[in-house]
Amino acid sequence: MWKGKTVILGVTGGIACYKAAALCSKLAQKGAEVRVIMTESATKFVAPLTFQTLSRHHVMVDTFDEKDASVVSHIDWADSADLVVVAPATANMLAKMAHGLADDMLSTTLLATTAPILVAPAMNVHMYTHPAVQANMQTLLERGVRFVEPGVGQLACGYVGKGRLAEPEEIMLVIDQMLHPSQPLRGRRVLVTAGGTVERIDPVRYITNDSSGKMGYAIAEAARDMGAEVTLVSAKTAIDPPTGVEVVRVVSTKDMLHAVQERFSHTDIFIKAAAVADYRPAETADRKIKKKAETLTLELVKNPDILQWLGENKRAGQLVVGFAAETNDGEQHALDKVRRKKSDLLVLNDVTIPGAGFGTDTNLVRIYDANGLVQALPMMGKRAVAEKLLELVAGRLQASGGSEA
Ligand code: CTP
Repeated sequence: MWKGKTVILGVTGGIACYKAAALCSKLAQKGAEVRVIMTESATKFVAPLTFQTLSRHHVMVDTFDEKDASVVSHIDWADSADLVVVAPATANMLAKMAHGLADDMLSTTLLATTAPILVAPAMNVHMYTHPAVQANMQTLLERGVRFVEPGVGQLACGYVGKGRLAEPEEIMLVIDQMLHPSQPLRGRRVLVTAGGTVERIDPVRYITNDSSGKMGYAIAEAARDMGAEVTLVSAKTAIDPPTGVEVVRVVSTKDMLHAVQERFSHTDIFIKAAAVADYRPAETADRKIKKKAETLTLELVKNPDILQWLGENKRAGQLVVGFAAETNDGEQHALDKVRRKKSDLLVLNDVTIPGAGFGTDTNLVRIYDANGLVQALPMMGKRAVAEKLLELVAGRLQASGGSEA
């Protein structure tokens, strides 16, 4: 059932290692290709031979124990993974992951992989609740790492409390979800706008804004993974677009409006994450403007409002989501925009909060509809924010009976 999926199981040094053996066995029984990496401390609890026998693969412990001269193991393993599971994860391994340390095979592979990561911590209750451990877990959560929380019960150290490794069956359920994410947007056509539009003043100068495009690109990637057919209308960014989506490059707000209008009739969901220039120079000079007088007045004219156009023209079954980056009176502006621009949802982020808004990998958002607050999300990685938003969108479309293509 899980044939063709490669799962790296990272085992770190705690008594719960014995449960990791059961997890390894269950993964292999499901047909997954299981590669086990143990830390030195883990080998004090359970012999590598146990995992080798269960996974039918050589177990890696030492980064430099290269068995195959044609590859570099930690890169090769990191690249091969569909998912990396760390179970049990000690406080030490969480700290290494949070701070980017790479001093053993597992931490090095965790840095080298681009696969999703699932962590199942296990430790003494006081260690688990220590602010340092909690802060490290929060950092990892913000980077998109998923957790299976430890259970409450009798701990090996004698204490009763939270810290017991989640049961292998529970970890397997989350692995299943991560290997086979549900596809609530299957059959839907999603158009995401991203980046900052550029309005030319002359051949060497322009007006733009601080948008990095990261939020819009994360939405396009998440929508693709949720089964949608995705078009990314991208203004200026410095990042690579996700694979498997149609990318339409635009420069100015007017270009973006045309790209959106061309695709309007065959799109179900519009997500306007782009930071759009509200004004453009009344005229674009053909030649570089030369320095002459002490002052230079640039006349700007209003750009069309794409979100407003979408809100006013959308038909039943189409759903429009806007964004608002605000510095003050966020809720008031959000409610005003969602109502005025007739969008179904509006995602508000306060760009004055560190970790929220332009250029960051995280975001702190609140989602509104015309009736008020719908959802307030904690600080999360932009990909996780994208997934939460799209789940909400999928739910709304389904409730409104929007037809599937
Ligand atoms: N937007 C748009 N076209 C414009 C301006 C904005 O489609 N010409 C969209 C943005 O992509 C975003 C939402 O409208 O989804 C809100 O953008 P924002 O710039 O915050 O809205 P404005 O109406 O321009 O309000 P403000 O006065 O705060 O700039």
